[in-house]
Amino acid sequence: MLNKIKKIKKDFFLLKINSLSELEILKKKYLGKKGILNFFFKEIKFIENSELEKKKIGFYLNSLKKDIEIYIKKYKQIFLKKKKKIKKKDYFTDFTKPGNKKDLGSRHPISIIENRIINIFNKIGFKICEGPEIENDWYNFTALNFPYNHPAREMQDTFFLKKSNKLLRTHTSSVQIRYMEKNTPPIRVISPGRVYRNEKISSNSHYLFHQIEGFYLDKKVSFKDLKNTINFFIKNFFGKSITRFRPSYFPFTEPSAELDILWNNKWLEILGCGMIDPIVLNNININSEIYSGFAFGIGIERITLMIYNLNDIRDFFENDLRFLKQFKQEF
Ligand code: DAH
Repeated sequence: MLNKIKKIKKDFFLLKINSLSELEILKKKYLGKKGILNFFFKEIKFIENSELEKKKIGFYLNSLKKDIEIYIKKYKQIFLKKKKKIKKKDYFTDFTKPGNKKDLGSRHPISIIENRIINIFNKIGFKICEGPEIENDWYNFTALNFPYNHPAREMQDTFFLKKSNKLLRTHTSSVQIRYMEKNTPPIRVISPGRVYRNEKISSNSHYLFHQIEGFYLDKKVSFKDLKNTINFFIKNFFGKSITRFRPSYFPFTEPSAELDILWNNKWLEILGCGMIDPIVLNNININSEIYSGFAFGIGIERITLMIYNLNDIRDFFENDLRFLKQFKQEF
């Protein structure tokens, strides 16, 4: 019997105890009323003819019981301390510790270029104003002097919304009307945003793209002011470069022009511009005898392709992280 008890002792002290609840279970198993040690205590009386043997085993069992009790108590303290520490951690934040660095992502190339353009115009007093992407005919076409048979008004070119007379704006020029209706000159505004046209997706066209509209309305604004403003932008954005103004046509400007830039030995169209047509000003009850203005519209995708030497507009809209992560963060 003594040997059996010795084996139990050895087994107990070799046990791995991982938690407070495990410890409670062991306590019951060894020291409980129906536990292992009590079982042997009860067995002692069945040992025959040897008082000495009974005493020896009784003594051994008692000291083992004490050892196990002390051992369990000690372990309990260790576990309780650990628990407290974990709780303390929950409540204490060390603000001096360096933070976990999170990947913040990066700016979209279109946003980078858009912000650069905005910053340049901000320097010469242009404020930002945004307009809605869902527009009505008045702001997108009629007020801007688009004739009724203009191709842009056809279903093939413009997304019209079903069951309403609304459409997805085909250009940011609609903001000119919205802003001039509500504000009095002098007005100097740029308006960045998305525009939509019913075009096939290819490497150089998409049904969604971005423009920045700019307009200036005041007394005695001349074509020279327009040229100076555009040249200021070009110089600040591209550095020294060769440009040309080419006569063009837009329903809402008269005269109208397009600006090309010589880029890798090719002329690339950067923007459309012109003097705001007096018909447009009259449409919104601004006296065109007193006020005159200029406007321009910049296509952001084309400039972004140029700057980053890219050749496929679709890359901008596919959200492929391998593409997007290449662009340096700029705020
Ligand atoms: N709205 C024109 C377009 O989408 C661009 C444009 C041309 C805007 C001349 C202007 C402008 O403000 O004066 O093609």
